[in-house]
Amino acid sequence: MPLPDEGKFPFHPHPEYARLRREQPVVQVSCPTGVNAWLVSRYADVREVLGDGRRFSSRPSPVAHILPAFRHDAPMKQQFSRLDGPEHIRMRRSLAPQVSHARRLAELQPFIDEVVEEAVDRFVEVAPPVDLHTHFSNWVTSAVIAELIGVPPEERHLLHEAAAAVFRYDVKIEDARRALGPLYGYLYAQIRERRANPGDDVLSRMILHSAETDRPLSDDELVGMNSALLIAGFDTTASLLSHGLLALLDRRDDWDRLVAEPALADTAADEIVRYLGVAIGLLRQATEDTELGGEKIAAGDLVVAAVQSANRDTDLHPDADLFDIARQPGAHVGFGYGAHACVGRQIARMELSTMLRTLPRRVPSLRLARPIEETPFRTHSAVRGPTEVLVSWDAVLPRSSAPVEEPSR
Ligand code: HEM
Repeated sequence: MPLPDEGKFPFHPHPEYARLRREQPVVQVSCPTGVNAWLVSRYADVREVLGDGRRFSSRPSPVAHILPAFRHDAPMKQQFSRLDGPEHIRMRRSLAPQVSHARRLAELQPFIDEVVEEAVDRFVEVAPPVDLHTHFSNWVTSAVIAELIGVPPEERHLLHEAAAAVFRYDVKIEDARRALGPLYGYLYAQIRERRANPGDDVLSRMILHSAETDRPLSDDELVGMNSALLIAGFDTTASLLSHGLLALLDRRDDWDRLVAEPALADTAADEIVRYLGVAIGLLRQATEDTELGGEKIAAGDLVVAAVQSANRDTDLHPDADLFDIARQPGAHVGFGYGAHACVGRQIARMELSTMLRTLPRRVPSLRLARPIEETPFRTHSAVRGPTEVLVSWDAVLPRSSAPVEEPSR
């Protein structure tokens, strides 16, 4: 399977995808974990796969074609991202309102503003060059997701350690379990505590919400959902913040345009998700004999929806290979599509656009301190992006240099 070689193509899916979209839009490939699957590269076909959970089940983990520790045929525990139909809806209903309701998001915006300002205050204390991936992106995204679930700063290392282990290609199942163990233990203890004394966090709200339903969520289900939320919500977003920053600083004109036109932060955020994406491809399994893009798919066949390739399809945008920070947000699949589409997408967008409003305002002279060719990237991971973004700068403006924008309500 033609995995992107990020070092060579830091801002593009592998060029082979353009040929596949033209000539073999649905093609059989052998994935890194050894399973054979149909690779689907066109926008319309990717939407068809992700949008039809009846024909294309989520039962294999979305990352099982890349990560051996997530075997697609492993017996399933309480992982809601691998459920279909009513079982998935039941679990998703208890979570989605807690992370996507407009009032909840409006409450969260001032917190994200403060976290991003504080991250700037902190990294500029260090003499340049500074690695923004560690000192900015990881810091911001873990603070936000930890606040949502109610994990105090001294326990955040649990999610760092779990995320660092589980998305690696070479992680052994025992090592992934060992890294997840402390996070699970912490969450089980918190569930007991919050069942007795609920707070205002997502975990407590899920407990309260599900208690009013016919089948309240069990402790195992709550631990499964909240650990997935912590890991997915932190690592994917951190990678994309860093990748987006790298792209903007590499294209100096775009960075300068953001400095001059802060109102572009929202469209730039969405364009980063479309253009760079973060998920390499999403795995599904056909539930019946069917047809896709002219190919016959048999029941039981595995199918990989290549979301990054789909987002570069000229059927989506005639100039899909152009990075345009003023592009109006459209129907891309960077957050997935259908029943399993990213439940944290509004939060991820808020983090991206807050960063894109704040950093250019406070550190307009920010620049890359290392050539793009020497920037290290994740390889063989379920998540794309640089592992370090070294930057330097001249002056830093204080927080008060411009009014912090009021959160939109
Ligand atoms: C820019 C950052 C992010 C990107 C690009 C992203 C991307 C995605 C994609 C493509 C999916 C679909 C997976 C599938 O169809 O199998 C997904 C699902 C999910 N995302 Fe995100 N995500 C991001 C940030 C977040 C954040 C911040 C959270 C939590 C607050 C989150 C929580 C989840 C969860 C829980 C699911 C599983 C939903 C389900 O199976 O019903 N993500 N994400």
